[in-house]
Amino acid sequence: MERRCWSVEAGIAVLLLLAGCSAPAPSAGVADPQATAALAPGGGVRPRLKPADLVGFRSLPAYSEPAWVSQDFVAKGRLPPLRDRLPKQPLVVAAGAMPDGIGVHGDALRQVTGGRPEGWNTSAGQSQGWGGVDIGTLECLTRTGPLFLVRSDALQPLPNLARRWTWSPDGHQLTMDLVEGARWSDGHPFTSDDVMFFWTDNVLDPQVSPLGGAGPDSFGAGTTLEALGPYTIRWTFRQAFPEDVLYQMAYGKFCPGPAHVLRPQHPRHNPRNSYADYRNAFPAARVNFPVMGAWVATEYRPDDIIIFRRNPYYWKVDAAGQQLPYFDELQYRLLGWNDRDIQVIAGTSDLANVEVPGNYVEVLRQAAKPGAPFRIAFGPRGAAYAVLMNLSGNGWGEPDARGQQVRRLNRTLAFRQAVSLAMDRQALATTLVKGPFVLPYAGGILPDTPFYDAAATVQWGHDAARARALLDDAGIIDSDGSGMRNFPGGGPDIEIVLTASPDTATDRSLAEGVQIFAREIGLRIILRFVGGTQRDAAGASGQFDWLLSRNNTTELITVVQGSDALAPMGPYTHAFHRAGPGGRLDLLPYERDMVAAVAAFQDSRDPAVRRAAMARYQRLSTANANSIGLVRFPGALIVNRRIANVPPATPIFMFNWAEDAIMRERLFVPRARQGGAELRPRTLPGCFDCRS
Ligand code: GLA
Repeated sequence: MERRCWSVEAGIAVLLLLAGCSAPAPSAGVADPQATAALAPGGGVRPRLKPADLVGFRSLPAYSEPAWVSQDFVAKGRLPPLRDRLPKQPLVVAAGAMPDGIGVHGDALRQVTGGRPEGWNTSAGQSQGWGGVDIGTLECLTRTGPLFLVRSDALQPLPNLARRWTWSPDGHQLTMDLVEGARWSDGHPFTSDDVMFFWTDNVLDPQVSPLGGAGPDSFGAGTTLEALGPYTIRWTFRQAFPEDVLYQMAYGKFCPGPAHVLRPQHPRHNPRNSYADYRNAFPAARVNFPVMGAWVATEYRPDDIIIFRRNPYYWKVDAAGQQLPYFDELQYRLLGWNDRDIQVIAGTSDLANVEVPGNYVEVLRQAAKPGAPFRIAFGPRGAAYAVLMNLSGNGWGEPDARGQQVRRLNRTLAFRQAVSLAMDRQALATTLVKGPFVLPYAGGILPDTPFYDAAATVQWGHDAARARALLDDAGIIDSDGSGMRNFPGGGPDIEIVLTASPDTATDRSLAEGVQIFAREIGLRIILRFVGGTQRDAAGASGQFDWLLSRNNTTELITVVQGSDALAPMGPYTHAFHRAGPGGRLDLLPYERDMVAAVAAFQDSRDPAVRRAAMARYQRLSTANANSIGLVRFPGALIVNRRIANVPPATPIFMFNWAEDAIMRERLFVPRARQGGAELRPRTLPGCFDCRS
């Protein structure tokens, strides 16, 4: 039988052929081709759905759950009947949009992460080690991951904890109804109290920074929120119809934690506790922490595994009334990031985002082998690296004298342009992987995405001679004959620290490449590798000259989501330009223009106006070398063949990471292929903090 490999990229197709695969079907996807009519024929995805085709809220005549839950828990009085655990109108995941149809309960979804959990208090900023661990437990007011399936004229976030919303006629108020009767995984009711605690004591509290970075400006400056009742909240905005805030209310800016558990530890409600006590009150070992998500962490063994079991109070069902998730267990083995790919290739893990280009050829080769346990699908080139120069000239991150001189250079157009011209992007691409995967990236909006406008994009080719001339003309010269350029005005040799992550080969080799190409035009770069949360902290506090960044935010891909991040819209919102200690932003003239372009985009509901605003933004951003784009490349989702309902050609990162986009709560293994993977069969989460 003809073996198929999946790809949406003609260039990659060549490599697939070299790797021994048959010609890939254009725009064929990852799922076995049982896609419904809503999905494109042949399995490819042309976004065709409306949000209502994916999810809705209604009561169904009957509900069911795995038989062992009814037998071992409900029948024995250890758990209320399912109907009493579900909302009156649960969220119903539509059958029509399930690529392989309605599923069956059982089995374990096996994943790997390279990160490590700090603890469960996401509201106070603790990370669970990424890799989709938090996405499995958190639920947010709205949801955006699956929007890659939604057609552009119907694009708006999916309802989630907020089941519906209405705008006031003047567009300044947004009233949201919360899902009524939903419960945390410990059975405690979810209400507007949880939402208000998250807002008041976490988002607005200057001493707390929730995971995902929500702050007072994240939903627009001056925005307020109030509860009108247990299931109704009302936002008030300065701007009229700021519809983009609905995207902010998805992962990871508005995913409330359990107020009944968190509040007693918060310093405002518990004078004995410091803010550090609050943040650290729920270490990873305190399992069974109440969540609204599909799975609850029930066991944690450091550097080994986190086991999650199904949340018996999960408030989502399928169209047949079966409570979701289909998987009874979720496992995260705690290994390295590279192991994610290796374990799926070996058949010992079910799902991974292949995002390290150095692995691509090998993964394709393995995918082409007869009996390979996994399928592979490449998505658009949504991954991109850039150097972000710290553009604050008035003290953000408290630079010393050298740092301040670097900031002055960063704020000089000719300097940024010279650095951009110095980068041999083709060579950088080749060091990551040979072949057509990795392409040069000019900075700004990504070419494979809907708002990209080629005519508005200034490409920076490699031209070291021109770069040198630009620096000479700007007075950035080698004034002491050392061979390296000096800070203007007879200062010492320029030294710039590039902060980068040591966690993947991609980051390391790009950082080294930047160092080499900068040296060719007389600039000395010192590499500072700091991993995980430390690197995030350096970025958020402004303690960097230059930052090597993988686009971990979605704005350059979707534009509609996180449009605030496109330019310094508020004093504390932007990745590489925030206000100094005086609270003032010292915007450069082109940054002001970018802010105006983004505001014009946000203020209009007219698609033509919005497109034009984004073209203006793109021209400003690329002509001014606002960031130094380096390379861009596609990611691939690899999925064990036993897993059903993975939407075809899911991008590993678009509105959110694939772990959200594929809607893991509706993945399943057909009955005949189930068995053996669960580590704790027939168990449910224990009670949180029981001392017995
Ligand atoms: C990390 C990984 C991504 C994705 C996210 C999800 O950033 O690199 O592939 O899994 O975590 O949180």
